[in-house]
Amino acid sequence: MAAAAKTRSGGVCVILLVCVFSSCQSLFHRGETYKREISVQLNPNSNSTPPGGDLLHVRAVGENDTLHYLFCSQGAPTLLLVHTNSSSSIVKVNWPQFLARNHSGSLTVEPQSSILYTTAVVFSRLLEYDDVNNTAKATSDFLPPYKLQDFIWSRLNLSGPVALLCGHHATFINGSLCVKLSVFNTEGRALTWPRLLHSANSSQIEVWLDGIAPRANNSRFLLELQAVGGAYPFSRVDVWQSIDDEYTPSIFKVSQWVSSANGSSDILGFVQWKPVAYLQPHPVLEDATPCRYSDPVLQSGEAIGSSSGLIRGFYSQPGAMGLNVSFGLAGDPFYNNTMFLSWTVLVGIGTPPVDSFSPLVITIMAVGLGTPMVLLLLGGVFVYLHKKRQSSTSTYQPIN
Ligand SMILES: *[C@@H]1O[C@H](CO)[C@@H](O)[C@H](O)[C@H]1NC(C)=O
Ligand SMILES: *[C@@H]1O[C@H](CO)[C@@H](O)[C@H](O)[C@H]1NC(C)=O
Ligand SMILES: *[C@@H]1O[C@H](CO)[C@@H](O)[C@H](O)[C@H]1NC(C)=O
Ligand SMILES: *[C@@H]1O[C@H](CO)[C@@H](O)[C@H](O)[C@H]1NC(C)=O
Ligand SMILES: *[C@@H]1O[C@H](CO)[C@@H](O)[C@H](O)[C@H]1NC(C)=O
Ligand SMILES: *[C@@H]1O[C@H](CO)[C@@H](O)[C@H](O)[C@H]1NC(C)=O
Ligand SMILES: *[C@@H]1O[C@H](CO)[C@@H](O)[C@H](O)[C@H]1NC(C)=O
Ligand SMILES: *[C@@H]1O[C@H](CO)[C@@H](O)[C@H](O)[C@H]1NC(C)=O
Ligand SMILES: *[C@@H]1O[C@H](CO)[C@@H](O)[C@H](O)[C@H]1NC(C)=O
Ligand SMILES: *[C@@H]1O[C@H](CO)[C@@H](O)[C@H](O)[C@H]1NC(C)=O
Ligand SMILES: *[C@@H]1O[C@H](CO)[C@@H](O)[C@H](O)[C@H]1NC(C)=O
Repeated sequence: MAAAAKTRSGGVCVILLVCVFSSCQSLFHRGETYKREISVQLNPNSNSTPPGGDLLHVRAVGENDTLHYLFCSQGAPTLLLVHTNSSSSIVKVNWPQFLARNHSGSLTVEPQSSILYTTAVVFSRLLEYDDVNNTAKATSDFLPPYKLQDFIWSRLNLSGPVALLCGHHATFINGSLCVKLSVFNTEGRALTWPRLLHSANSSQIEVWLDGIAPRANNSRFLLELQAVGGAYPFSRVDVWQSIDDEYTPSIFKVSQWVSSANGSSDILGFVQWKPVAYLQPHPVLEDATPCRYSDPVLQSGEAIGSSSGLIRGFYSQPGAMGLNVSFGLAGDPFYNNTMFLSWTVLVGIGTPPVDSFSPLVITIMAVGLGTPMVLLLLGGVFVYLHKKRQSSTSTYQPIN
């Protein structure tokens, strides 16, 4: 009888553990994965390689929608995302006008009525300052900024939906700034740190500075970004805290710069990053350096249009916000230490991907939650059996 009760309670415990585990799984892992068909086109409908920079068009076709990614190095490197409610929308470029960089409407997405949302990100300037006192304050001692629109850019190096663009300023002795765009057809996670989680509605951009001779003894760098959000500007940065740093060691935060409709929590477009940069191409933990951002400020639409050929060609009155990302804190190594710095962002539409808990953490939680429950149950069973035995001994005593 006691043995039977024990087996039964054992069974209950196992069932409970399985319940805890599977409910954790379903809580933290979204089942469905959204897929898109991807096709890549370099300089669409151009019969020659355009002078001044390439234009890449990646079509990502969903069930009843299309996400057009346009990446261009006519001027400052720019990524434009156009989301349409049709799976047959197309990109049209009037090349002579587009190359003249003085016509809005030289690049269009047709039919115009299918456009649901557009956003663009421009990598506008590289700033350098001399951090004489090693405080990483970035308030003074700025050297003349490098405008990315003035860089001499390589042709796009394509491999599938991954495009690599490298460029240098005329005053660089050596070294380059590279921008690598990756477009994805489904959910996943990059293999290299910071191992950002991506979806079929986002693309990843990695920016790195390699071998650029610093102009001061204690040089640190900042990167200026501008984001065009149309009617809903990129006016705020949200910071999320996580308890899990399994994919990005020692980093427990995610920052996302978002454009959202008035009074609504729905996010229309986002630029997401983890506050970390790396000082080596193949980093180990010691090569991580924190980064910070400044508050978004309004940018001149005229200036952004003149720095980026893609913005000029697509938008007639771009409303843009900008922010600076600075690399390194007080006491961290200066750029000259490794002569390398890389930073990664995700750019996309809709709800930004949220890191779910990893299987390791789920297991730990399941064990953490499950063990006390098992102990409680075993305790209860033990007390029950003890009482039962006591009562049975007391009933049988008179007969004995
Ligand atoms: C896509 O459109 C077709 C026809 O208009 C419709 O039957 C289908 O339900 C739509 N699919 C989605 C996911 O909206
Ligand atoms: C655009 O620039 C070209 C030369 O680069 C010039 O011929 C043309 O008039 C300009 N158009 C406008 C609308 O400014
Ligand atoms: C797409 O959206 C536009 C405007 O938002 C609307 O006029 C059009 O009917 C929509 N098309 C489809 C296929 O839903
Ligand atoms: C660096 O420190 C010195 C001495 O404390 C001070 O005079 C100087 O203003 C500081 N420079 C900066 C850029 O903070
Ligand atoms: C293009 O990129 C690949 C790796 O991404 C590299 O091996 C190759 O050398 C690059 N080609 C050029 C011309 O830069
Ligand atoms: C530039 O690169 C060349 C070849 O990699 C190297 O020999 C030279 O020392 C570098 N110059 C500077 C100033 O870093
Ligand atoms: C991607 O966007 C489409 C269209 O807005 C939406 O239906 C889908 O759920 C999104 N997928 C993800 C993973 O956000
Ligand atoms: C860099 O430091 C050296 C010696 O430490 C000094 O002679 C030189 O003037 C410094 N250069 C700059 C640009 O401050
Ligand atoms: C957004 O909010 C501001 C003030 O909070 C209001 O003036 C404006 O009309 C709103 N815009 C929309 C599109 O709701
Ligand atoms: C970035 O920093 C530089 C130097 O402090 C400043 O001039 C510029 O306005 C900043 N840009 C943005 C978008 O805040
Ligand atoms: C970087 O510059 C600082 C200041 O001039 C100097 O002390 C240090 O030795 C340099 N580091 C390397 C690796 O050259």
